[in-house]
Formats: sequence, structure tokens, C-alpha cells
Amino acid sequence: LERTFIAIKPDGVQRGLISEIISRFERKGFKLVAIKIVKPSKEFAQKHYHDLKDRPFFNGLCDFLSSGPVIAMVWEGEGVVKYGRKLIGATDPQKSEPGTIRGDLAVVVGRNIIHGSDAPDTAKDEINLWFKPEDLVNYTSNAEKWVYGVN
Ligand code: GTP
Ligand code: MG
Repeated sequence: LERTFIAIKPDGVQRGLISEIISRFERKGFKLVAIKIVKPSKEFAQKHYHDLKDRPFFNGLCDFLSSGPVIAMVWEGEGVVKYGRKLIGATDPQKSEPGTIRGDLAVVVGRNIIHGSDAPDTAKDEINLWFKPEDLVNYTSNAEKWVYGVN
């Protein structure tokens, strides 16, 4: 099954939104296969956001990501990369639909509380950056046969 990298940024952690955000992925039917709390260095943040290095907000973004603890997670499920982005909502919370995480819980683009990989190949890169292979847990959740059905 597909996997994606999801991070609750320092604003989401400081605002007490960890359980709210995890709950939305969990209730959907996606499966948590790795999780940790970590305070990334600025160098690490720069690696994570390397494809934005030429943008004017890059430095502030990396300062922000490294300013406090982040909840780093890997979620697994059918279509989880694309649908995870749907749960998260548009980058700018002013444009995110109500019902999405950013739409319901954030107001400005520089403090949009959550990150999600944008494609399966970037998901692989980000999972490799944030986690060691042995940090990912393979297991069958009891819910799976009900989420996906059995034939
Ligand atoms: P991530 O899931 O965090 O990668 O967001 P995204 O994929 O929806 O957007 P993108 O990768 O283009 O930008 C990464 C992050 O940079 C965003 O989540 C914002 O926090 C920040 N960002 C993007 N555009 C702007 C901007 O115009 N101004 C500011 N201040 N921050 C921005
Ligand atoms: Mg992005």
C-alpha cells in the first residue's frame, strides 16, 4: 500500500492540535506506521524544503520549521498521498475549504500547521529523510478488513 509523509508543524504542536490532526487521518481509515516528536535543525529543515530554496519565504520557512517540535509521521493506505493532501486542504488557509485541516484550523499561509508529501516519489524521499527503515512498522490493523472489504 501507498505511504505518505505527514508532519504537524511547530504551530500545530504548540496550539494543541496533535490529536485533532491525527484523528482525522485515523478516522478516515488510514494506518499510522511511524511517528515521532523531533525538533529539526535548520539544516534539516532546508533539506526537507530543498525544492523551495529559491523562494523569498524559504529562509523564514526553515527558521519556522526548526523553531519547535514537529510531529513526524508516516501514514499508509490506498491513495493516501493524494487524499492526504485533500484532508489537509489548500496551501493558503484563506483558500482551503471548510472541512479540511487548514480550512478549519489555520488562517495564514506561513502558519498552516501541517505538511503532506505532494506525490508518491517525494513521499518516498521525505520518508527516507525523516525516518530509518526500521522505524516503519508493518502490521495488520483490525480495521483493515472493514475499511477495504474482503473477497
Ligand atoms: P507543505 O505540505 O508544507 O509542503 O505545503 P504545500 O505543499 O501545500 O505548499 P508548498 O510545498 O508550495 O510550500 C511549503 C510551505 O511553504 C507551505 O506549507 C507554507 O507554509 C509555506 N509557503 C508557501 N507559499 C508561501 C508564501 O507565499 N508565503 C509564505 N510566507 N509561506 C509560504
Ligand atoms: Mg509542499
